[in-house]
Amino acid sequence: MKKTGLITFCLDIGGTGIKGFTADAADREISERVRIETPHPATPKAVLAVVKEIVAQMPHFDRVAAGFPGVVVKGRALTAPNLDPAWEGFDLGKALEKLTGRPVRVANDAGVQGLAVIEGAGTELVLTLGTGMGFALYVDGHYVPNIEMAHHPFRKSKTYEELVSNAALHKVGKKRWNRRVKKVIHQLAPIFNYRVLYIGGGNAKEIDFKLAENAKVIENVAGLLGGVKLWQQPG
Ligand code: BGC
Repeated sequence: MKKTGLITFCLDIGGTGIKGFTADAADREISERVRIETPHPATPKAVLAVVKEIVAQMPHFDRVAAGFPGVVVKGRALTAPNLDPAWEGFDLGKALEKLTGRPVRVANDAGVQGLAVIEGAGTELVLTLGTGMGFALYVDGHYVPNIEMAHHPFRKSKTYEELVSNAALHKVGKKRWNRRVKKVIHQLAPIFNYRVLYIGGGNAKEIDFKLAENAKVIENVAGLLGGVKLWQQPG
């Protein structure tokens, strides 16, 4: 296959799995996807050891785009609710630069995923349902970073994430979890008044109710190419 432009190593650090692959500037995947279980405890050191293993399986790449499950400012992780407290303040961007010898961009995982699917017009919202609950807001294609809706209280002093996380799905079962997801959407819709809502993450496929016209489930794979788009954002 003829490659177009620079090759991006797209890395997605999740609470359950760490995924990586390379793609060209035309969103064509150059390598196989590699997924390795997230180590426990998921300290920076343990996670970076896994990233190293993934990098070893990648062909040549020119730059790195990483999605991280927490607040990220200038490459630095400020929170990591589903990993390990040792991440707080850890400069992931710098560590990845050292590990790969390539320029790196890091952003919140939901934020990165959404870049692959948004249309770039009006208010668009992304919810990811996986280990935790990811949330990302875009206005005319511009990402508004680090809105941590997951940890906002929702009801009975439980946060959104506590109600619709993967752990909650397993605890209360699919039926109740679906009722909760529906309520979450009903709560968010009149607040953000989005034009489109995209729902991704590994558990999006568990949704069994009919979504409104302006909401759609995105394939988990769709979001992975957000890394390429992260490099198209203003630095
Ligand atoms: C984190 C978010 C992240 C989401 C999905 C939440 O616990 O606070 O930053 O996007 O999990 O990984």
